[in-house]
Amino acid sequence: MSVEPSSPSPEIENLLAESRTFPPDPTFAAQANAKADLYEEAERDFEAFWAKRARERLDWSKPFETTLEWELPFAKWFVGGELNVSYNCVDRHIERGLGDKVAYHWIGEPGDTRTLTFRDLLREVSKAANALKELGVEKGDRVAIYMPMIPELPIAMLACARIGAPHTVVFGGFSAESLSGRINDCGAKVLLTADGGYRRGKEVGLKHHADEALASTPTVEAAIVVNRTGHEVHMVDGRDHWWHDIVERQSDDCPPVPVESEHMLYLLYTSGTTAKPKGILHTTAGYLLGTSFTHEAIFDVKPDDVYWCAADIGWVTGHSYIVYGPLANATTGILYEGAPDTPAWDRWWQIIEDYRVSILYCAPTAIRAFMKQGEAWPRKHDLSSLRVLGSVGEPINPEAWLWYREHIGGGRAPIVDTWWQTETGQILITPLPGVTTTKPGSATFPFPGIDADVVDGDGNSVPRGGGGYLVLKRPWPAMLRGIHGDPERYFETYWKRFPGMYFAGDGAKRDEDGYFWLLGRVDDVMNVAGHRISTTEVESALVDHRSVAEAAVVGKKDDISGQAIFAFVILRADQEPSDALAVQLREHVAYVIGPIARPKFLMFVPDLPKTRSGKIMRRLLRDIAEGRVLGDTTTLADTTVVDTIRENSGAAEE
Ligand code: WT7
Repeated sequence: MSVEPSSPSPEIENLLAESRTFPPDPTFAAQANAKADLYEEAERDFEAFWAKRARERLDWSKPFETTLEWELPFAKWFVGGELNVSYNCVDRHIERGLGDKVAYHWIGEPGDTRTLTFRDLLREVSKAANALKELGVEKGDRVAIYMPMIPELPIAMLACARIGAPHTVVFGGFSAESLSGRINDCGAKVLLTADGGYRRGKEVGLKHHADEALASTPTVEAAIVVNRTGHEVHMVDGRDHWWHDIVERQSDDCPPVPVESEHMLYLLYTSGTTAKPKGILHTTAGYLLGTSFTHEAIFDVKPDDVYWCAADIGWVTGHSYIVYGPLANATTGILYEGAPDTPAWDRWWQIIEDYRVSILYCAPTAIRAFMKQGEAWPRKHDLSSLRVLGSVGEPINPEAWLWYREHIGGGRAPIVDTWWQTETGQILITPLPGVTTTKPGSATFPFPGIDADVVDGDGNSVPRGGGGYLVLKRPWPAMLRGIHGDPERYFETYWKRFPGMYFAGDGAKRDEDGYFWLLGRVDDVMNVAGHRISTTEVESALVDHRSVAEAAVVGKKDDISGQAIFAFVILRADQEPSDALAVQLREHVAYVIGPIARPKFLMFVPDLPKTRSGKIMRRLLRDIAEGRVLGDTTTLADTTVVDTIRENSGAAEE
């Protein structure tokens, strides 16, 4: 991994000079779930802090004996305890009289809707779990899920949790190859999928990708297919079952299986600095506690709130803050299948008005896209129900923060800018609404019980006002427990760089008041529209094409998506550069990884700038991509290379 010290961006410097602050509104503070004393309580004894909440908030079939066993880098939380996640997310609410409360208002992109109460959810989850059992799925067996944003997706996840079968959800935008890679890494026995879904007014097929993937996944014995679009699909005899056949005919009684606290709940694959995605391992009790407690405290969730996390369940944001955290808190949530601009750019604001949404959680990339369309769209709608706004996935620039506050939050709703990762499972750095004075663009402070720091290259804490690497210095309940099948890579990726500390891969700065400012990734990972994509993964996909000899990929600053993918491509000797080939190569990347990884810019180059030891100098490529004056070129092996690239520049843009 190449780690270059990060320098704070100019916006942040300017903002610090401007130093605008937003203290909590006293009326909000008076009714807030979280109070300032949480910080002191957690600092006194962080294990006792979490243990108390684990006893209060979760329903256990068997109480735990030990709060934490910590043998770096392996943590075990709530050892000796047993519980079931689906019982905690569904059954217990019904037992307490909330059977008729809405769990999800689902809105399909074409305009069809479905409402699921907690009682409906219990019935559907139980039937789906029984269908899995009929297919031979047992506790510990892995199940892959590849679906659009339809109610069957959270139902499928909870059905797995109900019988102790870990799931791996693969985002519906990933390709067949990405799907088969993940299935093979975890050895899934069954795949739950759909014929397709809707996106931007079009049907997007999934089953044909699933079929292609299943051609090379020997462990998969069966598939269940939801009929979402009604489009004709090929069903393989003896392997494929329609959801409306196999699930519908099951009994709606399926007793939840208690599992140990550290039983695997799911694997979720994420990009790292190599081409092979990492199966991030999350377990049961600590994860459920971490997600549900942060959800209630950070979003100030009350029993009658209508909460909308507008992410896709295929990413960790959806796992933690659409499914597990909110359902454990018996929250009413919105699930929307489609795009924000379909049929028009006010689709979200229409939904907020129609359902009186009170809490909205989304990504800066969405906020910037709305900003670009202008405030006339939100102004057409009554957004007065909104009382808390959240942001996640990438640094939010102060302009977008202020626009969000003004035009969506009516200058009234507090904004929580929440920093976390697939690996951390739960939010770790965030304001507490009603407690924290916010600064636009800062995620502010570590959540109670979390020990975060900014360190220099030697792991020494950087004094206030300085920048460096973000680290975490003690375990937290929802932390990853490892990388599936690769304990060494787990240690090397996260725990080796700074002994005794978890290294998140992000640069950060702390200002004079101790506020944390996240500065983006310091490794070769891009953040495109709030999703991590590794440069190496895109490079491998390009080199996989027969015309390509070598490729280098960098993230280019982008007004909307944060970063856009910029590919430099060297063709094989017998190939001629052309616009048609550029299109083909982009499509090839989309085919191999998924449309999210399709390079926005692609430039054919005769050579790449390298150090004398042959390492590609990405820093220079980033300078070229962003049209900047070149940085230090003294370590460049052949200085004419960059000049040649610059002379021929004019990258083909998508
Ligand atoms: C990376 C994790 C966690 C859910 C979504 C992304 C960046 C995330 C923030 C924030 C600045 C942020 C970091 C992090 N990131 N939230 N509030 N401010 N940066 O999950 O795909 O695992 O990506 O997203 O760079 O390392 P992920």
